[in-house]
Amino acid sequence: MSSASLETPLVNQPIDPPRRPDTKFLLGDYSIYFADEANYFLDTGKVGPMVRFRLAHLDHLLVTDAEFAKEILQTRNKNYLKEPRLMKIIESGAAQTLFSSDGDEWIWRRRLMQPAFHKKQIAAFCDAILNETEKMVDSWNAGESHDMDEAMKMVTMMIIGRTMFNVDMDGDSADLHWAYRTLSETLISRITSPIQTPAWMPTKANRDFQECQEIITTTLSSIMNERRHATEPQNDLLEMLLTMVDVEDGFTQEQMIFEMSSIVFAGHETTAATLAWILYVLTEHPDVEAKLLEEIDTVIGDRRPTMDDLEKLPYLNMVINETLRMYPPARATTRQAIEADELGGYKVRAGEAVFINIEGIQKDERYWDNPLQFDPERWTAERSANRHKWAFLPFLDGPRKCIGEPLSRTEMQLILVTMLKRFRFVLPAGAKVEKKVGFVLQPSGLEMILEPR
Ligand code: HEM
Repeated sequence: MSSASLETPLVNQPIDPPRRPDTKFLLGDYSIYFADEANYFLDTGKVGPMVRFRLAHLDHLLVTDAEFAKEILQTRNKNYLKEPRLMKIIESGAAQTLFSSDGDEWIWRRRLMQPAFHKKQIAAFCDAILNETEKMVDSWNAGESHDMDEAMKMVTMMIIGRTMFNVDMDGDSADLHWAYRTLSETLISRITSPIQTPAWMPTKANRDFQECQEIITTTLSSIMNERRHATEPQNDLLEMLLTMVDVEDGFTQEQMIFEMSSIVFAGHETTAATLAWILYVLTEHPDVEAKLLEEIDTVIGDRRPTMDDLEKLPYLNMVINETLRMYPPARATTRQAIEADELGGYKVRAGEAVFINIEGIQKDERYWDNPLQFDPERWTAERSANRHKWAFLPFLDGPRKCIGEPLSRTEMQLILVTMLKRFRFVLPAGAKVEKKVGFVLQPSGLEMILEPR
């Protein structure tokens, strides 16, 4: 589809946002979406800063504009709450969590959990992150090939266990890994499907979903029960949640399990997907790989990295940012407009779901030169100086900004340094890596050969 005009309307009266010219009378954008799921939002965002689209019977808005995103997520955030249809699917009959709640329910959760993600706390996680990563790297041999997407999901899950709950999830990792993958696949198919199979129907998908919820609940309950018997106090997220169960009437152990589960869910696949994309882009850009390896060799050499080293690795951060720009794990997020609104001259109807096109904004020519080119150098202070702050939203911004960003960034830095000191990650000839649209945007087919360095 060709790129159309991005001008906002000039009239005073708010107008209806346009639709894609190829939208269908009966099905709306349904067949267009499924013909190229990975690029649908990117493509549709080119029609204008706000576009109305319909998947089967439901009308939604797609916003591809940094200023509109700021209005929705910050300035007028009280009018744009978590989208109830999506949150109902994510909660799947379970309790609300930090991720899915709004208003007062959200505020107390965020205040309670914020200290577990504090900078000082993250610094204390450094050893745990390195231990888990070294365990993985030590188990590898040169010449072997590994599915790096899966490997990154395993190591980031182990790190969540160590840092948030102070436990070793090794014994449960294979089951938990299957459970979270199944959960993710089921949720995305429920979100995109116009017809919802009732949860009580004994379909394979429903049975798998039930089984994966049982695995998650059993594993996390046993972690919680073990902690109940611990004699030494631990200053981690689990401790903060347990205290809340004890002092707050409405907060039950069952709710706490859902909170723990949503932290594992939100915290491991996203970081893993970014790491996997980084390994992929290094194979595509040997010049970037060479420069990154040189920086790591000069600053770290053969020793173990420390937290203090991380600020001496500017190019590594530029590569991470550029990967998050090109391949944001959350390519879009949604809110529901509570009252009718007007944004930049466009009408927003009360009750309408508004999709913020994170990937579209991060590849919009109004904010980025050559947006489709992978160019870590665009992250120098000089080239970043005049950029719209809301044009880069991998962790979102405003009050609902990702609570895990500092942890995730530290993890990515330490994991990459540890892996790249030891191996080069090479794709076999003819390998085809594609965007796989799941709950997060991840690469498919990332079987890589390990070459010694
Ligand atoms: C590259 C890694 C990550 C990315 C790209 C990412 C992205 C995001 C985004 C876009 C949101 C906002 C969703 C919305 O409100 O619509 C979010 C929220 C959240 N993230 Fe992350 N995330 C990452 C890592 C993590 C980690 C490591 C954790 C926890 C250990 C985490 C936990 C959460 C939680 C709990 C929320 C909800 C916060 C709230 O609403 O107050 N995330 N994340």
